[in-house]
Amino acid sequence: MQTFQKVLTCALSDALAAAGLPEAGDVTQATDPRFGDYQTNAALILAKQRGENPRQLAEKIIAHLDVERWCAEPTIAGAGFINFRLKPRAVASHIRELLRDERLGAPVSVRRQKIVIDFGSPNVAKPMHVGHIRSTVLGDALARVAAFLGHEVIRDNHIGDWGTQFGMVIYGWKNLLDRNALARDPIAELVRVYKKTNELAKTDENVRDACREELVRLQAGDAANLGIWQETVALSMKEFEAAYQILGVHYDIQRGESFYNDRLPGVVARLCESGLAERSEGAICVFFRDIPELADKPCLIQKSDGGFNYATTDIATVDYRINDLGADTVWIVTGAPQKLHFQQIFEIARREGYTADFRHVTHGSILGEDRKLMKTRSGDNVPLRELLDEAVHRAEKIVAEKNPELCAGEQRAIALTIGIGAVKYADLSQYRMSDYVFSWDRMLSLQGNTAPYLQNAYVRIRSIFRKLGTGFVAPNELLLAEPAELNLAKRLGHFAETVPQVLNDFRPNLLANYLFELANAFHAFYEACPVLKADEPAQSTRLALCELTARVLQKGLELLGIAVPEKM
Ligand code: ARG
Repeated sequence: MQTFQKVLTCALSDALAAAGLPEAGDVTQATDPRFGDYQTNAALILAKQRGENPRQLAEKIIAHLDVERWCAEPTIAGAGFINFRLKPRAVASHIRELLRDERLGAPVSVRRQKIVIDFGSPNVAKPMHVGHIRSTVLGDALARVAAFLGHEVIRDNHIGDWGTQFGMVIYGWKNLLDRNALARDPIAELVRVYKKTNELAKTDENVRDACREELVRLQAGDAANLGIWQETVALSMKEFEAAYQILGVHYDIQRGESFYNDRLPGVVARLCESGLAERSEGAICVFFRDIPELADKPCLIQKSDGGFNYATTDIATVDYRINDLGADTVWIVTGAPQKLHFQQIFEIARREGYTADFRHVTHGSILGEDRKLMKTRSGDNVPLRELLDEAVHRAEKIVAEKNPELCAGEQRAIALTIGIGAVKYADLSQYRMSDYVFSWDRMLSLQGNTAPYLQNAYVRIRSIFRKLGTGFVAPNELLLAEPAELNLAKRLGHFAETVPQVLNDFRPNLLANYLFELANAFHAFYEACPVLKADEPAQSTRLALCELTARVLQKGLELLGIAVPEKM
């Protein structure tokens, strides 16, 4: 089935051809519903190109437009916009089709791509903190949307499980570790030891040297050091897994940095042979002299002491994803500070002849109520686990107040859905590049653009059907008589038009905002139009709108990685 936007776009192209005009413009949802439901600026674009009068061109296009099946006579507004208003009967029959379609009208991408999505990617022996939330939640949502649109998605966790920090981790483990504390809270103890070593190394040259030696030993394959490395990786992985469990996030593969370790000498040798890399002051670098913004920013791929670094690993990662995994497209989701790094990596890939589509999906930061980077009172990063526990705990209080009759187990399950949903939605409803202020009260509010508000709309609909006592049966005829019914019905048709837009610029917030508007349209409808007390045929129509709203809310939230409770 096709969206109205699609059929009107086709009708426009036909009209342009019939009028002897070239393709121009597209059909979009109307910006102001007073003028119609869809609009096109085709006449404006053509007028500019051809130096003709836009309103006259619009008239000419309209004379060839055959949209009677769906719309009233198109109108011209402003300088030459063509506006389309849907006929209620066309909307009603569209709703009947949507009720029969599991995809709720959403198209399947014609250009099916194999997409590797690198997201989350936390670091071993450091806590997974609130900063990793954005990458994890954003990457997960993008993966869900891409898969829903028919792409083949490989979710890859590029864990930071190798590199210079392990010199300190191992030194700390050997010299400062408190075994009891490790048994109680492994990550906290690992972090304490790592931080302490870092501090000591700053002032004590002997510690610095000792750390370097531990690193050299690890890289040379020393059994004891490898054993410590393995143990810290395993402990961290356990911690990550617990967070993924609560967040409902999964990975298809987890190729950490260590996975690429053997390949690094080959990468450097290859780049030197091809002339892409050169020796500079003892180190090996790739220069970008022809790119003004990178001209003074070479990419270091081997240090003068022979060690490899983050960039070397990422070049090996490109090889693996394209040659071994067969990716057409790679998306890497990290904070904005890594922008330069990936600009360099993608440029190197291009120079090596890779033609895949590489995208760095960046995001802003999460701020505390003081508008500075969110930290704990002692100035540390907020550990993710603590944050998620608090989300569930706070939601539990709300659920207990609203539903004292539910048993504790049920309350907890609902609280998990609401609390985690609230944290994810607070993030995904923002434009990814903006920083946002983390506020418990706002994100858990039942009012406003929040997950609980959307979940509550869904729950309200479920309770209508519980009261009705019979399951939903799609009616043969739908009559959209009330403005609130028609408005809700039109919004339901926008789902399929919105989802593909998410991938244009990696913006799940477009889907979030759509769902918010849908819930608003539902509440306006629910106030204006009684459902259970209505007579036929109004009741069947209204039940159909309720059912479809619930399905769209559920599917839309699912694409954001958010579940819906049946009660709350
Ligand atoms: N571990 C890195 C961090 O925490 C993110 C890794 C992103 N992916 C990559 N291929 N470099 O900042």
